Amino acid sequence: MIPAVVIAKKRDREALTREEIDFMVTGYARGEIPDYQMSALAMAIYIQGMDAREISDLTDIMIASGTCLKRVSDRPRVDKHSTGGLGDKTSLILAPLLACCDLDVPMISGRGLGITGGTLDKLEAIPGFRCNLTDEESESQLQEIGCFITGATDLLVPADKKLYALRDVTGTVPSIALITASIMSKKIAETLDALVLDVKCGSGAFLPTRDRAEALADSLISNGKRAGIATTALITDMNQPLGEMVGNACEVDESIQVLENSGPEDVRELTLELCARLLVATGKSNDTASARSTLLGHLSSGRAMERFERMVARQGGDMSAPRPIAKTVAWRAPKSGYLVSIDGQKLGQAIVVLGGGRAFAGQAIDFSVGLRMLARLGDSVTAGEELLHVYGDRQDHVTSAVELITQAIQIADEPNAAPLLWTEFVHRPR
Ligand code: URA
Repeated sequence: MIPAVVIAKKRDREALTREEIDFMVTGYARGEIPDYQMSALAMAIYIQGMDAREISDLTDIMIASGTCLKRVSDRPRVDKHSTGGLGDKTSLILAPLLACCDLDVPMISGRGLGITGGTLDKLEAIPGFRCNLTDEESESQLQEIGCFITGATDLLVPADKKLYALRDVTGTVPSIALITASIMSKKIAETLDALVLDVKCGSGAFLPTRDRAEALADSLISNGKRAGIATTALITDMNQPLGEMVGNACEVDESIQVLENSGPEDVRELTLELCARLLVATGKSNDTASARSTLLGHLSSGRAMERFERMVARQGGDMSAPRPIAKTVAWRAPKSGYLVSIDGQKLGQAIVVLGGGRAFAGQAIDFSVGLRMLARLGDSVTAGEELLHVYGDRQDHVTSAVELITQAIQIADEPNAAPLLWTEFVHRPR
């Protein structure tokens, strides 16, 4: 087979055979296909797309580049995947909460890049927390505690690690075909029975429009179902941060509030709904109403918090050690009116400028910085009122972040409709 011929076929909108995809992707993972040819193919896929059969083949071939996680108990195995956004901390609550419901939650998470935060970065704000568990460590932790949250080992879909890094620098990340294969290969390799997808939509999401978010949800669900995983999705709002806190240590604090049965209503609501979907999908609950009542019981009894503490301790984290929080500066409303829009991209850039996110892969994170939103879209605000707190110790960074926040937040004389936190997604295979 000749790489240039395969690339030209995709460029001319022809579907690739399984053998052709295997030749390119497996060859790339083994170092036999160079970056320049794989980049050309990624760009051809980005422009021309792939049909469902090609996406399934690509997913399977990527999974075969590594090894899948092993079942360690008779409990159903579940996970959630979010397409990422600001203040998205539901994983920290969801994993221990579902473990209380006799489910195994083998959660392989990622780090933040650009404006999207990463679960591993948040957890590493807990002094000592380790996100590099070996397969043996994660298996025994799952058996005993029912959940772990760790990074992928080199054996879990290595083709994705290499291809994702290439896509990141060649402008080929936002392709539904490539995103589907990337996300689902890692989830299928977790050997799941059920998966819930949190597909974000809005100014702070990487797919801002409802149409694109729905197309991705359809593609992910089709791919999960054909792999025998009960897969459902919610389309969730990312026109404003989830909860009040955006950052690393401050998001851990807010997650702990929810685990202690308080915390912001939107974080509680979204986490409960995502968990409820998995309880129904695995037959642990008959409907979402009874699922939610079970989940609330685990929050109010302290069992969910206790499970989180056990997970953290098992992964080396010290909950009693102080988590870093930088000095606070208030950002005040420049005029009276209604909070009508928040540019999530700019708010996310403010976090990166403060040092809480990464401008490039591998950049060190400052766990102590962040933002606290004191108002929600639709709120009426008064000139001079504190709308946001900025956490940062470096004055130059805080000044740049404040400029971005000033550009991001719009106040108008008339209110507009506040967005719905989540909406039901009805799967229509395309
Ligand atoms: N997250 C992933 O894991 N892969 C993508 O391609 C995009 C988001």
